[in-house]
Amino acid sequence: KIIILDFGSQYTQLIARRVRELNVYCEIHPFNHIPEITSDVKGVILSGSPFSVRQEDAPQVDLGLFMDKYPVLAVCYGAQYIAQQSGGDVQPSSTREYGRAKLGYVSEQNKLFKNILTESQVWMSHGDTITEVPESFEIIASTDSVRVAAFQVKDTDTYAIQFHPEVTHSTDGKQLLENFLVDICGCKQDWTADAFVESTIANLKSQLGDDKVVLGLSGGVDSSVAAVLLHKAIGTNLHCIFVDNGLLRKDEYEAVLEQYKHMGLNIKGVDAKERFLGQLAGIKDPELKRKAIGRVFIEVFDDAAHEVQDVVWLAQGTIYPDVIESVSVKGPSATIKSHHNVGGLPDFMKLKIVEPLNTLFKDEVRRVGKTLGIADVILGRHPFPGPGLAIRILGDVTAEKVAILQEADAIYINNLKEAGLYDQVWQAGAIFLPVQSVGVMGDERTYENVICLRAVESVDGMTADWCHLPYPVLAKISNEIINKVKGINRVVYDISSKPPATIEWE
Ligand code: XMP
Repeated sequence: KIIILDFGSQYTQLIARRVRELNVYCEIHPFNHIPEITSDVKGVILSGSPFSVRQEDAPQVDLGLFMDKYPVLAVCYGAQYIAQQSGGDVQPSSTREYGRAKLGYVSEQNKLFKNILTESQVWMSHGDTITEVPESFEIIASTDSVRVAAFQVKDTDTYAIQFHPEVTHSTDGKQLLENFLVDICGCKQDWTADAFVESTIANLKSQLGDDKVVLGLSGGVDSSVAAVLLHKAIGTNLHCIFVDNGLLRKDEYEAVLEQYKHMGLNIKGVDAKERFLGQLAGIKDPELKRKAIGRVFIEVFDDAAHEVQDVVWLAQGTIYPDVIESVSVKGPSATIKSHHNVGGLPDFMKLKIVEPLNTLFKDEVRRVGKTLGIADVILGRHPFPGPGLAIRILGDVTAEKVAILQEADAIYINNLKEAGLYDQVWQAGAIFLPVQSVGVMGDERTYENVICLRAVESVDGMTADWCHLPYPVLAKISNEIINKVKGINRVVYDISSKPPATIEWE
């Protein structure tokens, strides 16, 4: 494997994804929590950083831990750090070193630049630049304005670059990473979805033995993939629990339960609609709604889990971005991200936790799901919030409002599917607005609620843009909702991006 030491750059996760796209397993660790470097480590990558090496509180690392012992590729801050620590000089850039640049000189016989020619476009993003390097360094690439675009510590496997190979604007970035991983580190490129499935099932078998495991299924990608992996490892010792909170999409509970059964999972459906709606009655505040739903879920899940005799483990579909320790940009201390999927269940259950997907990014979970033969309808499903339709009904939640929203949402989603747009949209849903407006239907004046349609494009939900859905599709959806859903006489479309708007309205 490859170890990526994170100095807090916004691009660190992207480096990890590129390395994995080259079928090499890698892990991100904060610079101040370096793991013990074991014999399976083939190389170390140092990330960029929002800090300058000239700052007093800049992140420091003992290079002796890995330099000259393992191949090293230092990117941006990492490159400047090595240069500075080795007696070179780093100064604020006098020329603009942000954006696209072309490599004017490339050492063509250098292993790192195999198959990369001069004129190759690279992406720069730094406020400092290496002005001097010691005798023992060889400059192996330059641009017009950056003399030390890349260097090698002579006769060693330590390489450094001031540009970012991980962003797509560096057109040969992937080639450069492959050169480092394969030619310099000797990685085999055998980390594939198939290999992951095989080794994870073997590990789960030995870790869990004959123990019983409970897992809460949500209908989403992560919990479904986790369930199938565990099922392949321990069969019916995996007890899945799928809770109907009454806040799912129309007919989704029945359809998904049926699918899970079809996949052979040992699954118990729990109809807790009344319990959730009862606890939500009269609550208007979004956070209080979330709390109530979380609380009831824990109670319901706990009851269902207690019905499984002698259960030892709780399985969760936690994925890698939820567990990566992030380097705080404000100070060089590592903090753990808090996230609603981590932990989350009460202590009194006293179960051991197993998280088979906690080394994977979302797109990797999908690939593993495909390898496992999970249907596209599950793998391609839009993200759906845990509190479900409760946070898409502004204000208090009632059974009537849920029913209206389910109808409108079903019309919306079905039309997106029919128009071939569902897979192009990252997330879509209808929102019930407790606003009444005047309309006319036949000869009658109506005074009814509004449905808002939301559809966004996004990569990870952190930022999002509203989708420019075609007018004819929007027209058809609006028409159908107003004609078919009793209680709705107006449909609007949300054209706000995140930030500043969020994806959900609550
Ligand atoms: P926002 O509304 O914050 O949503 O832009 C970003 C993503 O997170 C989902 N979301 C939630 N998921 N529990 C969840 O499990 C929640 O309370 C919650 N709130 C928002 C939202 O659907 C979107 O994908």
